[in-house]
Amino acid sequence: MAPALLIRDLTQVASPAGTGAPLRGAGLRRVDVVEDAYVLCRERSVAAVGRMAELEPLDGDVVEVDGRGLVALPGFVDCHTHACFAGDRVEEFDLRAGGASYEELHAAGGGILSTVRATRAAGEGALRAALERRRVAMRSHGTTTWEAKSGYGLDHDTELAQLRAIAAVGGVPTWLGAHAVPPEHGDADAYLDFALAEVLPEAAAIAEAADVFLERGAFDAGQARRYLEACGRAGLALRVHADQFTEGGGIPLAIELGARSVDHLEATGDAGVRSLAASDVTAVLLPVAALVLGRPQPPGRALADAGAAVALATDFNPGSAFGESLPLVCVLACTQAGLAPAEALAACTVNAAHVLGRADRVGRLAPGYDADVVLLDAPDWRYLAYHVAGGDVAVVVERGEVAWRR
Ligand code: NIG
Ligand code: FE
Repeated sequence: MAPALLIRDLTQVASPAGTGAPLRGAGLRRVDVVEDAYVLCRERSVAAVGRMAELEPLDGDVVEVDGRGLVALPGFVDCHTHACFAGDRVEEFDLRAGGASYEELHAAGGGILSTVRATRAAGEGALRAALERRRVAMRSHGTTTWEAKSGYGLDHDTELAQLRAIAAVGGVPTWLGAHAVPPEHGDADAYLDFALAEVLPEAAAIAEAADVFLERGAFDAGQARRYLEACGRAGLALRVHADQFTEGGGIPLAIELGARSVDHLEATGDAGVRSLAASDVTAVLLPVAALVLGRPQPPGRALADAGAAVALATDFNPGSAFGESLPLVCVLACTQAGLAPAEALAACTVNAAHVLGRADRVGRLAPGYDADVVLLDAPDWRYLAYHVAGGDVAVVVERGEVAWRR
């Protein structure tokens, strides 16, 4: 039997309250906080959380972690990334800083398609090595469960190489087969003919979900419907990049098809907020993408007030959101998109786990959940959203073992 892990003398343990998922309304704002506390992990799971004064003597081998001055939170869940890519877009970043727009660069064959060229040229080994480095960076920001999308291959071999690399490095793979139309196909419909016939059968054996970029210049609502319906028939859960620049019908489509999430929502108006709140589809907010592209923030406060299930993610990618930090996402969510710290915590733990179909074992610090724990060097758990670029993540525990220390 592996030794138990006891994290002792913690200033606080904080975890979203309740047992169900996704959280919404008042449930999104309830956090269980235990002061002067411990977390006990056994066999890769949380065995107990409680007050030090009530800690019973432990039998067998125990590894202890000194939690003095630290607060424990559930490991963070990044439910939307494009972390599997080659190259970078620092040249475009420079051009955008000088006034060029993301959409102009995309229309001129740059943007996503420039990362497609680099990713096709890289080879699977190099892709996997790059992803392994980024996975360490994600962990150093407290991320213990993460999703990553394909979508920078857009041909048979590279899409599948991306999905294999993501699975091999421990991510949750999503097939973003409809991200952009690559130049060798005449138009979006011809590309979808190819992707659905030639790539979907093998992608569906690796990926857990499918995603589509529904936007002017990418795929329209009819094309997104065709893609998602085929992916649903192949057994994949459904996600939609919707309303990033324009309201394109992604919300009603996602609701009709029973998608897990709609992601972005920077352009979503009142009607979209109301219909999402009345649905089972989770709204995934990506505040770094809005920040970097100088777009309005998504309507986080309105969504939470209306009762929508809200999640947060980095959207980590080389173009619109080159950053792995969920703590930064929480800072932006609370200062720019109107969420409270408790809502931000639930949004990047329980609700993000729900989007990935894992809320039964990930996203809370409670007995029976996976022993994924983030220790912040802070006197209060709300430093997560309060300390800008604070670098407070001090220790990361994954499945009951210390995986990273500052
Ligand atoms: O979610 N909007 C489309 N896809 C990504 C950006 C990908 C890229 O720019 O490479 C996003 O922001
Ligand atoms: Fe994205």
